[in-house]
Amino acid sequence: MAKKIIMDVDTGTDDAVAIMLAALHRDLDLVAVTTVNGNVPLEQTTDNTLRVLEWIGRGDIPVYAGLNKQVARQDFPTPRASKRDSKVHMPILPLPAPTGKRQHKSAPQFLIEAFAADPGLTLVAVAPLSNIATAIALDSSFVENVSELMIMGGGITRSNMTASAEFNIWADPEAAAVVFSAGFKKITMVPLDATHQATISEDQCAEFRMLKTRAANAAAELIEFRINGYKTTTIGPVPDNAPVHDALCIAALVDQSVIETRRVNVVVETTGDYTVGCTVVDHRHLTKREPNCDVAFNADGKKFFEIMRSTFA
Ligand code: RIB
Ligand code: CA
Repeated sequence: MAKKIIMDVDTGTDDAVAIMLAALHRDLDLVAVTTVNGNVPLEQTTDNTLRVLEWIGRGDIPVYAGLNKQVARQDFPTPRASKRDSKVHMPILPLPAPTGKRQHKSAPQFLIEAFAADPGLTLVAVAPLSNIATAIALDSSFVENVSELMIMGGGITRSNMTASAEFNIWADPEAAAVVFSAGFKKITMVPLDATHQATISEDQCAEFRMLKTRAANAAAELIEFRINGYKTTTIGPVPDNAPVHDALCIAALVDQSVIETRRVNVVVETTGDYTVGCTVVDHRHLTKREPNCDVAFNADGKKFFEIMRSTFA
């Protein structure tokens, strides 16, 4: 039976590829998508999400909009697309405007009700964690009702927003701190260290284009945009490649061996002068803090590409 998942996204070029992978893979049943402020403002993450789903003929999947800012901070300059990373994300994805609309219910309320009704659901959060933290604050049984939470975010030794923080965690650090310490039964964290081991190349985009499907063409266009963006920054160590962070989480749900995890403790820094949003990963078990998370230390880029290629075909 297909694994039922709900995605929380800030679409975003890599979110878009992840959504297509989740919506089209035969082993996954994408029940709904929730949106949050992040790469672009909430209105645009929602509009972009609707565009992606309709483009691949999955406009039947409902979209719920959530928080349009951080849970606590008034002063953080997200969204990201107006900043350095504008070369990797686009305000509006190059797909036709959607005909469908978002649902009326708010994302946190929907998440609470969906997980209460179906404990078999998996939650995949590939964006700032504002919606998830709000659901936790609103309903004391939410954490218990989520059997599995997969998060793209954080870094072990890598960062991409500040010298110490990854974007999804940095963009709402208080929310992230709440989520990591909430007591979820199973959290898998896919950090930058893993996503940068599974980058996609220009040649692989050309292979997508040869498939001549809507999903493959869109994936190629979005990933090529990311590759060009990385060429003009210093953060892409492999030439003509780019990570497609969020999609790696989906591939790992389909085939666990795409990532190699270790169970460790992770906490989120919220007060440091230089380290707000840093994920402190106790990979040598130097503290007495209980492990709370399976962290992906490695990723298999070949398997990741093959899962995308076969799904988009
Ligand atoms: O740091 C990578 C993450 O930040 C990805 O989820 C990307 O979409 C952005 O949200
Ligand atoms: Ca994202």
